[in-house]
Amino acid sequence: MMNYHQARWICESCLEPLIFEMGNKGGSRGILLPRGVGAEINIPEKMLRKSLNIPELSQPEVVRHYTRLSQMNFCVDTGFYPLGSCTMKYNPKVNEELADLDEVANIHPDQDEGTVQGALEIMYRLERLLCEITGMSKMCLQPSAGAHGEFLGMLLVRAYFRARGETRKEVIIPDSAHGTNFASAGMAGFNVVVVPSNNRGRVDLEALRAAVSEKTAALMMTNPNTLGLFEDEILEISKMVHDAGGLLYYDGANLNGIIGKARPGDMGFDIVHLNLHKTFSTPHGGGGPGSGPVGVAEKLEEFLPVPVIEYDEEQGRFWLNYNRPHSIGKIKSFFGNFGVLVKAYAYILSMGADGLKEAAEAAVINANYLMHKLADGKSFKVNYDGPCKHEVVLSAEPLKRETGVTARDVVKRLLDFGLHPPTYYFPPIVPEALMIEPTETESKEELDRFIAAMKAVAQEARTDPGRVKAAPTATAIGRLDETRASREPILSWRMYQRLKPK
Ligand SMILES: Cc1ncc(COP(=O)(O)O)c(C=O)c1O
Repeated sequence: MMNYHQARWICESCLEPLIFEMGNKGGSRGILLPRGVGAEINIPEKMLRKSLNIPELSQPEVVRHYTRLSQMNFCVDTGFYPLGSCTMKYNPKVNEELADLDEVANIHPDQDEGTVQGALEIMYRLERLLCEITGMSKMCLQPSAGAHGEFLGMLLVRAYFRARGETRKEVIIPDSAHGTNFASAGMAGFNVVVVPSNNRGRVDLEALRAAVSEKTAALMMTNPNTLGLFEDEILEISKMVHDAGGLLYYDGANLNGIIGKARPGDMGFDIVHLNLHKTFSTPHGGGGPGSGPVGVAEKLEEFLPVPVIEYDEEQGRFWLNYNRPHSIGKIKSFFGNFGVLVKAYAYILSMGADGLKEAAEAAVINANYLMHKLADGKSFKVNYDGPCKHEVVLSAEPLKRETGVTARDVVKRLLDFGLHPPTYYFPPIVPEALMIEPTETESKEELDRFIAAMKAVAQEARTDPGRVKAAPTATAIGRLDETRASREPILSWRMYQRLKPK
């Protein structure tokens, strides 16, 4: 566990006190007028607080504190964010504005159906559009994240086989898959069978044939896979699994590479989750709400969570259907993260079918441009031939062999260039992996800046490796112990206060 002095050091080295350490009792005051000034706010006396223990600060002190903190952070609005598998593209601000409208942000999920017809209509229409995009029959918009969607997908697989009286206990997952796939299958009670990739970076068909049996409940895979490669034998794969009576689950976190061009439903997938907080105008990453809708083929529709949003044509109204006897029940309170759904709906409508296709094309061209410029075999190489889709996985093995500088050192040094690093050491089947996903929103100039920085770091590794190994040196704090940072996080001032010596 990080001790108080280490935590204090991190805060002090940032020269940033906690907001709770600022201000004086009875000192400054900040005033923020409520929206709709003049409106009577009638809060019953018994519900009013008698006291409130929060720091007393003026408006400029608060604004400066949070602005300073925000500047210590990196976001897609400040720079290139090629974090592979996260699709950190720039999201148009108009979609945020729409999600912030009073009619969207200030309605309550307990309101009577009759008063939220617009919200129900947005969800109904979004569900239809996502079905069209994926080739699925029906969707549930409730899950909050990709992993949450995977878990729901696995529960649907379980319900499907239970209803058929079959006990299938195995879920097959390729070794290149995202870690959440293994966890979701395990949490739903399945035994995971791992199949290796072949020398083309795709699922090894012979190994799959050997793994598939009457015990197979599902094959879980993503296409393009986490190596950024399209699984071009997918039709043969889906036939193999279906012939054995199993289902195919599609991890749609990588949809950005094929949206508008190919549909998982047409590849033979029966269940699909999407990461709206990647492909559809909400940033992925810690903190904000996400959304991982799950779509299914017709034979699985009856098991979807309740409520299902339906449209009554006769009465011209949308309604919530809870009366579904085979439903697995609830997966989340109410209907999902509505703001994220609104952004996705606005994004799809504003892009149109052609726009979505163009986005996928540009994402793929950008990744291939980076691959072409960076995989020179001397510093970085690719382990699998051929064009990639939305992301490229480089290996820094040649650089490490020559200089001792690792993929981790390279990404840390990129921070000093003001760039967000790529994902590294994932997928684990590529030694010294650097997984770069530029997305469609970056210009050639931005990509060239990134290429120049990568080359500069590789050059520096040869002339001054110590400098690269000491990086980052230009950031608020230096190199952290990442394992401890995620296993023993200090996420709030209360946790930090608890460490204070008595
Ligand atoms: C391929 C893949 N699958 C699943 C997930 C899980 O998504 P989430 O982080 O929303 O749970 C991710 C996340 O990055 C991913 O890249």
